[in-house]
Amino acid sequence: MASRRAWERSVAEQWARDAAADGSLRHRLLDELCMSIESLVREAVSDGDIATSVIAELLLTLRHCDELDFKTEAQCLAYVCWHLADRYGRTQQALDALFAGGHLPVRGRGASIVEVGSGPAPAVHATGDFYRHLSRWCADSGQPGHMVPLLRADTLDRGLGWGRLLHTLSEQRLLASAAPELTGDAVLHHSYRNLRAFSVRGPQQEGIRRMAQSLEDESDRSDEYLSDRDVHQLALASGAYPPSAYDVIVTCNFLTNTSFTTDFEREIRELAYSLTPGGILLILGATRGIYPQVYAQLDRLITSARPKLKQVLNAELGVHENDSLTRRRVATQIVKTLNQLEQAPAEFEAVRPELPKDVQNLDVTEVRFGRFTVRAYKREGGGAFSVRERRRMDRRRAEQTAGRPADGGLGYPSLLGDCLSTASGTARRRPSAYGVPQAGRSAG
Ligand SMILES: C[S@@+](CC[C@H](N)C(=O)[O-])C[C@H]1O[C@@H](n2cnc3c(N)ncnc32)[C@H](O)[C@@H]1O
Repeated sequence: MASRRAWERSVAEQWARDAAADGSLRHRLLDELCMSIESLVREAVSDGDIATSVIAELLLTLRHCDELDFKTEAQCLAYVCWHLADRYGRTQQALDALFAGGHLPVRGRGASIVEVGSGPAPAVHATGDFYRHLSRWCADSGQPGHMVPLLRADTLDRGLGWGRLLHTLSEQRLLASAAPELTGDAVLHHSYRNLRAFSVRGPQQEGIRRMAQSLEDESDRSDEYLSDRDVHQLALASGAYPPSAYDVIVTCNFLTNTSFTTDFEREIRELAYSLTPGGILLILGATRGIYPQVYAQLDRLITSARPKLKQVLNAELGVHENDSLTRRRVATQIVKTLNQLEQAPAEFEAVRPELPKDVQNLDVTEVRFGRFTVRAYKREGGGAFSVRERRRMDRRRAEQTAGRPADGGLGYPSLLGDCLSTASGTARRRPSAYGVPQAGRSAG
């Protein structure tokens, strides 16, 4: 459909102007995120001992974060102080660029996203807020295009410390929100653990199997007979399992060296295969050093193998450029959270000379931001799909018709009770001795 692309391109300028304006929903949502980061750090760093353990991680999380395991709370907190709001802003810039090119996936029931190597999930937070804001903007400015917020968001990270932090941060966001209906119902989970051997279809198959198992258990408990086929069909129709493909897959500062792209070649190809038609693989990272080699490797990998993705964005941008309000708010968050660490004054003074010059004085006006690279690859729809792939697409459509995202995502877990009542047409029933319909197979 040419018109959706054309529509995105035709309104992108107006959108960018409105989004960057003082008091826009974009800035309110960023403010909300920054307040929740500030409260998270304030509450977690409650004494000098904890401040000391976070200070010990400050330089590592700035310079060597691809070597860290993110098992401890202190390491995760130090990372969040530097990077979460900053990467959130960068992701929104990348989404603006996609929109301007007419490549932002728009889905009737809401798009799905997974962030790979997600850490505190800046890209998930940013994408959720972007779609939420865009849908509100479309309604307020009378756009013909219909936009809805995200349907589902997943995170993938091997760092065991992230689960608790993501949860607490979501709660802080709800508390910080002046308008909870805009913040949405998102309590982010640590959905998947490791990219090694990860395939989107693995959790989906497992989710269907578990759903089928609980349906079978439930039918046993209620003395209702369901054949294996019924169980399988009901499990599929429930939609209560992870999707078989995503509309947006993001890696943000995850593919940081050439060994990553070599080591994870198979998994990266699998991710490319796990995009819906029209879906986008978005890669954000630094600009210098080893990065040009990493991007060249990715280009070869992603645009040569089957399924072939098309590169639709390749840009180097100034971080938070053209948006002084975002720059200032992110700088304020960084300084405020570092201030919190002064509860261990001697330790903070010891590390201060090693910190980047622009933050040493803890002065918001001195904080500077560099440049970053964004690449986007699109799975073009309408081409030839294999039979297997068509089946996956049919299943996705069925999931959407069922309308329930699986648990673990942004949506609510599907209730087994719903499934069984949906099942009443499919389950074989026979009249009981008392004339009340009763399930066929029973313990006897
Ligand atoms: C530099 S952080 C990026 C976090 C976040 N995307 C951001 O931009 O702030 C890289 C993350 O990748 C995770 N990671 C590293 N190797 C991984 C693997 N094999 N599977 C999953 N996550 C991994 C780390 O635990 C870490 O949280």
